[in-house]
Amino acid sequence: MSQKTIYVLNGPNLNLLGMREPEIYGRDTLADIESRCVALLEGTDFGLVFRQSNHEGQLVDWIQEARTEADALILNPAAYTHTSVALYDALKALSIPIIECHLSNPHARETFRHHSYVSLAANGVIAGFGAIGYELAIRAILSQVK
Ligand code: DQA
Repeated sequence: MSQKTIYVLNGPNLNLLGMREPEIYGRDTLADIESRCVALLEGTDFGLVFRQSNHEGQLVDWIQEARTEADALILNPAAYTHTSVALYDALKALSIPIIECHLSNPHARETFRHHSYVSLAANGVIAGFGAIGYELAIRAILSQVK
């Protein structure tokens, strides 16, 4: 059984999860979500790299790192979803499965959240299920990456 790696990258303000607009994003912290992802991968041959940054360039660097270090990527780009050509370009250089993940459903919110640069490069999108969305994304990867 060769060890595989799932990268989970989180964008700006997600460090405040649990405190930030809980009516929209829920009360789970990012650490809670990471723990659930780790638990879900127990007994599988997948390891987890789980990170958050408020900085676009740092996210670009991590996406580039995922080119060689990861077997799949789950990305919640947060506000950069709607603005970042740089993240889109970095994602286009990957040849691993990419899942875009959002706690809320951006399509049910302000119109500026309706467009995603990241969706153009993603294999799939999970949105609107809160913290459980990360677990759904991991399940999707487990069913697809052998
Ligand atoms: C988000 C949705 C984005 O529109 C927003 O900017 C976020 C979080 C989500 O997980 O629902 O910061 O990506």
